[in-house]
This record gives sequence, C-alpha cells and structure tokens, in this order.
Amino acid sequence: MGKSLIKFSEKLIDRLKVAYNVVVLTGAGMSAASGVPTFRGKDGLWNKFNPEELANINAFLRNPDLVWEWYSWRRNLIKNVNPNLGHYALVDMEQYFPEFAVITQNVDNLHQQAGSKSVIELHGNIMRNKCIDCGQYISEEDLLKLEEEAEKKVPHCPQCGGLIRPDVVWFGELLPQDAIEKARELSAAAEVFFSVGTSSQVEPAASLPYLAKGNGAYLVEINPEATPLSSVADECLREGVEKVLPALSMEIEKIRKRIK
Ligand code: APR
Repeated sequence: MGKSLIKFSEKLIDRLKVAYNVVVLTGAGMSAASGVPTFRGKDGLWNKFNPEELANINAFLRNPDLVWEWYSWRRNLIKNVNPNLGHYALVDMEQYFPEFAVITQNVDNLHQQAGSKSVIELHGNIMRNKCIDCGQYISEEDLLKLEEEAEKKVPHCPQCGGLIRPDVVWFGELLPQDAIEKARELSAAAEVFFSVGTSSQVEPAASLPYLAKGNGAYLVEINPEATPLSSVADECLREGVEKVLPALSMEIEKIRKRIK
C-alpha cells in the first residue's frame, strides 16, 4: 500500500514559514509507537490498573512495596524501548526555529534520548528517583544496589532511611513550579502550537493549548482520535505521530532554512 501522504493546510504552512516560536505539547500517544502503553486508550494502563491505588502519595504510603514494584515494572519496560520516528522528527524540527520547545507530560525520557534539546517535563521523569524524606536523588547505579538488597520491596534512602519514590508527579500533587511556569510562558508566546498524542484531559497541561490559542497561536492537534480539544483546534491531523511528524519535518525543511 502506498505511503499515505499527509496533507498539511496552506494556512499551517504559511504560519510555519514565518514562525519564530513553536511549541509541541506531547502525551503518551507520542510514545505508543515505541511500545510504551498509553493511559486511556483501549489498551491503556488505567484500564488494567487503578491509578488511585498506584499513582498517588497516599497509595504509596499505604502500600509502598506495591507502588514501587509497579513503577519498577514501568521503568524496566521503558529502559527497553527506543524513541520512534516522531521523537526524531521533533529533534529535526528544533533546528529550523529560533524558539522551539517540547513540553511533555511523559515521564519516559524518550525526547531526551532522541536528542531534543529543549524539553520541559511537566510530570517528572521515571528514570529519576529520590527519598521522600530528605529529597536526596539516588543514582541509577546506587538504585540497582539498593533494589537488589530490598528484593522487590521499596528501597530505603542510604542517607536517612526514608522511602525511595519515583520523581514523577502523582495525582493530587503540584507540578514542578519552574516547569509549569516556563510551559505557560512559552505557550502564551507560541505562534504555532501542536498538541500531540494527548487526550487533553489532565490539568494543568490541558490548559496550555487554550492559552496558546487565546494569544493568537495556530493550534494543531495530532491524534488518531478526537479529544475535547479537537473543536478548538484550527487543524486536526487524524494519524499517528510516527507518520505525521516525519512528514511535517520534511515540509519544514522545504520552506525554512536550518538555523541551528
Ligand atoms: N499518535 C498520536 N496519538 C496517539 C497515538 C499515536 N500513535 N496512539 C495513541 N494516541 C493518542 C490516543 O488517542 C489518546 O488520545 O494518545 C492519547 C493518549 O492519551 P492518554 O493515555 O490519556 O495519555 P495522556 O494524555 O498523556 O495522559 C495525561 O494523565 O495519567 C496521567 O500523568 C499521566 O501524563 C499522563 C496524563
């Protein structure tokens, strides 16, 4: 079957030709093609597991071993996957705009692994782990030793004995202040804003596209399914990121000079 040619509107192309500041908000759909399960799709994690039992601080304090084991399972899954063509397309696109930022809800480190330079992590990063009491970050190598000793149970901080937790934002927790402030600043200044692979349901990330649009950005959604954002977007591209972003990157190479 021939490659399905993705059609971008003249309006989007015209905006990209002159854009100074481009922002891409990404969600779990960005990593689906890499084999990382999404949360709310048909085979999403929240269909199999209950986030109330796993992804919040009270669940962790109630049953640290269960929560730790679930995150170890996710971390090991993520260690064995690679960025997909969508991640690499964003790395290419970054070089054609003076300001280009990836604001991600994902904790899988795949944007950084692909080589994106400007990545704002709204929900933390599963590869980082810290003590809930003294805040000490535990290196990957120290963690391996601690996990071996703990035998599947939650490891304890070598400094103070506190419980070790993944450095991710759990339901009900505040996002890192610097990350959400920077994300809002860039979204408000964006001339083109892409909402990519997210169901647009979780705040405050879900408000960023509205902030961008309210300040005059051209808003594009890339998602095979419709979301609450679809009716507000100027353009919806109903295909996977692994197809759309490489095609978009090729379009940009035609209409702009590489500046980085
Ligand atoms: N390309 C683009 N989009 C895709 C693809 C793909 N190949 N595959 C799936 N999608 C879309 C789905 O249609 C869905 O709309 O990705 C979206 C994934 O939505 P969610 O699973 O809800 O993930 P996300 O929006 O990132 O969730 C936000 O919720 O559970 C919390 O902290 C967690 O960061 C997460 C937040």
